[in-house]
Amino acid sequence: MNGHTDGRQESISVPFFYRWLRSLLFEMDPEEAHTLAVQLAPVAAAMSHGAFQDPCLATTVAGVNFANPVGLAAGFDKNGRLTNCLSKFGFGFAEIGSITAQSTIGNPKPRLFRLVEDEAVINRLGLNGDGASVVAQRLEGAGFSLPVGVNIAKTNLPTVKGEKGVADMLQSFECIRNLPLAFVTLNASCPNTHEGIMQESEELDQMLAGVQRLNERRLPVFLKLSPDSTDELLEKFVDSACKYGIRGYVLGNTTTKRDGLRTASNTVASIGNGGLSGKPLKQKALDLVKRVYKIKRGEQDIIGCGGIFSGADAFDFIAHGANAVEIYTGLIYGGPDLPCRINRQLAQLLKAKNLTVATLLGSAHTKKALA
Ligand SMILES: Cc1cc2nc3c(=O)[nH]c(=O)nc-3n(C[C@H](O)[C@H](O)[C@H](O)COP(=O)(O)O)c2cc1C
Repeated sequence: MNGHTDGRQESISVPFFYRWLRSLLFEMDPEEAHTLAVQLAPVAAAMSHGAFQDPCLATTVAGVNFANPVGLAAGFDKNGRLTNCLSKFGFGFAEIGSITAQSTIGNPKPRLFRLVEDEAVINRLGLNGDGASVVAQRLEGAGFSLPVGVNIAKTNLPTVKGEKGVADMLQSFECIRNLPLAFVTLNASCPNTHEGIMQESEELDQMLAGVQRLNERRLPVFLKLSPDSTDELLEKFVDSACKYGIRGYVLGNTTTKRDGLRTASNTVASIGNGGLSGKPLKQKALDLVKRVYKIKRGEQDIIGCGGIFSGADAFDFIAHGANAVEIYTGLIYGGPDLPCRINRQLAQLLKAKNLTVATLLGSAHTKKALA
C-alpha cells in the first residue's frame, strides 16, 4: 500500500439507489459498463427530476452563457449520442469527442481499469470512435439541450504524424465548423496515442494557424493541455495560443504519473500504461490551472477538469480562475445525479460567502473574496 499523504477527502456521499446500481456495474468489465451507461442515459434522463437551478451558478465561457458551470468532460460521449438529454442530469454544458478524422478501433482491450480505493480510473482507449464526418452528421440532426463543444484529436495511427497529423486535425475541424457549437477544443494532450502528448510547438503553430484560417464563423477555440507538462512547454503553448487567437484552455487531461495512490503498487503496475483520472488527479489539475492562469492573456478563459467530485472541488477550481469545470470519473463513482449535487453544494458554498460564480472567479489569486 502506498502512503496516504495526499490529503484527499473521503468518499463522496452516494445516493442509496446508485450505490446499489454501482455494485452491479462494478461487477462488469469497465468498458462494457460504460457502453451500457451511454445506452441507458436517455432512459435515466427521462426519469430524472430535472436539474438544480440557481442564478448564482450562471457563468460565461468565451462569451457564451451557461446556466451552471458543471460540464461533461470529453471521452464520455465520444460519438455525440447524448446531446439532447444531458441537461436533464444537471449539466450546464458538454464536450463531445474526442473525434478524429478517421474512425479507429483504438488500442487492444482491456484498456479501461477501475482503481476503486482511489476513486480513479486508468484508460488507454486510444481515441476509438466513429470518425468526424459520422459524428458531425449525427450532431447536425440532433437537438442540443445545452451548450455543446466538440473536442478534436489527431487520428491515432502511426502514419498520421507531422504534416499529415496537422491535415488530419484540419479535416475534422472542417466537418464540424458549421455546427451550432459553443466552442471547439483541440486536444494536444492525449497520453494514449502513438505520439503521446504534443511536444512540438512548430506542429502546434501549424495546426492553430490552419484551424483559424478555416474558422470563418469565429467559433471559440480552446486548447486542452496535460497536467504533466513542464512550465517551459506550457509557456510555449500559451505563446502560440495567444498568437493564433485561442480563446482559452481546458485544464486538463489525464496524467501518466502514478504517485500518491492508495491502490497497491503491484496492482497499479500490472495495469500498465494509460492516463489516470479521478480523485488523485485533482491537485495536479488544480496546479495546472494555477500555472496557466499566471501566464495566459486576460481575455482567455479556463475550463478546469480533473478529479472534481464535489461542490467544494468546483469552488476551488473557480476560485483559481476556471470559468467552468468538467467531470468524467466522478460520474463513475458518484452516479448520474452528481452534476446536480455539485451544483447544489456549490450554490450553498457561494451563498455562505455572499458570492456568485462570477464574483468567485479567480479570486484566490487576489485573496479578496475568500477571506
Ligand atoms: C475513459 C476515458 C476516456 C477519455 N477520453 C478522452 C478523449 O477522448 N478526449 C479527451 O480530451 N479526454 C478524454 N478523457 C479525459 C477526460 O476528458 C478528463 O480530462 C480526465 O478524465 C480528467 O477528468 P476526471 O478526473 O473528472 O475524469 C477521457 C477520460 C476517461 C476516463
